[in-house]
Amino acid sequence: FKPKPIRTILLVGLNNSGKTTLLCNLVSKMLDYARDMENVEQISTCPTPGLSLVEFQQGRIKWRVWDMSGQGRFRNLWAYYSGHVQGIAFCVDVTDSDRIATARDELQSLLDQPRVRDMKIPIVIFANKADLGNADDLDEADNDKNKSKSLSMENVRMALGVDSINQNQKVKVMSSSGLTGTGVSEGFQWLNDAIR
Ligand code: GTP
Ligand code: MG
Repeated sequence: FKPKPIRTILLVGLNNSGKTTLLCNLVSKMLDYARDMENVEQISTCPTPGLSLVEFQQGRIKWRVWDMSGQGRFRNLWAYYSGHVQGIAFCVDVTDSDRIATARDELQSLLDQPRVRDMKIPIVIFANKADLGNADDLDEADNDKNKSKSLSMENVRMALGVDSINQNQKVKVMSSSGLTGTGVSEGFQWLNDAIR
């Protein structure tokens, strides 16, 4: 008999980056609910007040995800919770280039947390809202507008300073959309593999 592995994850990132949407997408897939886009579009969120704990089973794995508020006044909770998790998911809105420097500061201060640094807690960075700017279904004018605001994967890596993170720290940047689900389960799969 082998006990079910539990994966305890901290889900952080600036407010409005799409953490709760991404998590809802993952969980609803598990419930076999969001098979078609009609249902996916029904996912609607509101700003997370403080934090919320979401637990779900995926095959043999039990996920325990702390979905944190990204609002400024709640961000000091991230450091505290980072001392109690096995992995971190850091969500960035690729259309929010105005606040990418703030996202970098928050990521770097997480990386400076003693337990994150010493235990080399793996971090997946979701370069989220990838559906904006690349969507084919937007008309050309809209598409151009979004594209000019959207950060490329390379821009995200540079702006967050990913390549200067300690080589021993497991870090992965994953292009994602919490609305369509692109990259979401892949990101969590990577975390799962990085933890074991
Ligand atoms: P806080 O709880 O306040 O920290 O925010 P959050 O990071 O949990 O953001 P939330 O999931 O509530 O999403 C914020 C807004 O972004 C909502 O209007 C979502 O519909 C939208 N959104 C989230 N993910 C995506 C995405 O991948 N693509 C697009 N186009 N919109 C998204
Ligand atoms: Mg939220």
